Amino acid sequence: MGVTLGPAKGLADMSSSADFGPRQSEGETNLSPQRRAFHERHLDDAARALVEADARHFLHQAVSTPCLTAIHKAEGIWIEDVQGRRYMDFHGNNVHQIGYGHPKLIAAIKDQLDDLPFTPRRFTSAPAIDLAAKLAAIAPGDLSKVLLTTGGSAAIEVALKIARAATGRFKTVSFWDSFHGAGFGAASVGGEQLFRSGAIGPLMAGAEHVAPFTCYRCPYGYPCDEAGAPRLDLCNMTCANFVRYVLEKEGDVAAVVAEPIRAVPTVPPPGFWRSVRQACDDAGALLIFDEIPTGLGRTGRMFACEHEGVTPDILVLGKGLGGGVLPIAAAIARPGLDVGAAYAFGHYTHEKNPVTARAALTTLQIIEDEGLAERAATLGGRALARLQEIKARHPLVGDVRGRGLLLGVDLVRDRETKDPAPDAAESVLYRALEKGLSFKISMGSVINLSPPLTISEADLDRALDILDACIGEEEGEN
Ligand SMILES: Cc1ncc(COP(=O)(O)O)c(C=O)c1O
Repeated sequence: MGVTLGPAKGLADMSSSADFGPRQSEGETNLSPQRRAFHERHLDDAARALVEADARHFLHQAVSTPCLTAIHKAEGIWIEDVQGRRYMDFHGNNVHQIGYGHPKLIAAIKDQLDDLPFTPRRFTSAPAIDLAAKLAAIAPGDLSKVLLTTGGSAAIEVALKIARAATGRFKTVSFWDSFHGAGFGAASVGGEQLFRSGAIGPLMAGAEHVAPFTCYRCPYGYPCDEAGAPRLDLCNMTCANFVRYVLEKEGDVAAVVAEPIRAVPTVPPPGFWRSVRQACDDAGALLIFDEIPTGLGRTGRMFACEHEGVTPDILVLGKGLGGGVLPIAAAIARPGLDVGAAYAFGHYTHEKNPVTARAALTTLQIIEDEGLAERAATLGGRALARLQEIKARHPLVGDVRGRGLLLGVDLVRDRETKDPAPDAAESVLYRALEKGLSFKISMGSVINLSPPLTISEADLDRALDILDACIGEEEGEN
């Protein structure tokens, strides 16, 4: 298969572009010359020693080890590195809807540690039951039967197993470029080379992929309008029709697995999910929505699928469910899918851990009490308007898009060709870090803005000022 594997290199050797490995679509590379330059400019001896020790002790992998620097504090919207530099965290792996270290969450976790720190399997506890009941109460439609895991990837595996057991089929349809986790099942339905190709295969059989909805750069070649919205009069929503086409051709697909809005972000054309829901129903396939990064208020509704008026058969949550402190995820299915009693779909050691359950329950309470979904809708609308204004002034910006506080700024070399500008995106990132703003780059050239939903208007404005300035500086120099 032509994969070259070798010993992990030291920090100083990781800067040639030949080392980048497979194409990655989520997260910027941790091996680039720009990363190296940031290290040289900004890391003092102590920070460098930590990053080098980290690189010595951990297995190296793309988008993770070696690291940027070490942090020693995470509070509210801020992370602080060991040299005392503070960054507004618009990345946060999408775990920080309620901000870091929310005092009510920390207090609840401490209480729970004192009260009941663990339940071995075969026992249950009130926090786990309360959490399952709460998830059932807030989930859309009749989604109400819950299985908890410690991570999103594992919850996706659970959903896949439920779909197999319920349909007697094994095939899936999902999107190229998507990410659903690092486990073999999740990587199989995912569409990122980084997680599925080369050294990693062979993967799960029957995992079919279609091109995703990406109206600004439609993979089917259709144009969009000036604002990046689809020209449905021309494309007739080919992306949705193609899902139906594959479901019909295969005839025995267990499930379509997808994020209702891609976290990178890309927003579906209106009616996309109603059309795919119908196609699933017609083909006897389940619809599994992965809302691991997009659920729990991020898009301006508790669940992103609520914008679409479509209820999946299984909803998968994770990331921010543990309030940015503890790892917990969930698959929530409709009652008719409770079909695996004789088998073990997610028999995880910490399945009903009372501490993680209490963290999730408290997090949901905070999201409701503080109206964080509504807040994301209001602040997100305001931020998107500002991004549109930034786009109007900066030719480097080809498109701005998103929903709620899940926003993207797509940088291009040329607005006509929409040729992505990954070097500029990376440069804008390092400029922004220097000014105290952290974010992720997706798909090579898309600046991902995903702040805590608790952010103040003033801080949000300040972050957008930084971004505006960094894009301006980048244009000025090139
Ligand atoms: C859409 C999506 N699905 C699944 C996952 C996997 O979650 P975890 O990293 O908790 O396994 C992620 C994580 O980034 C994600 O973004």
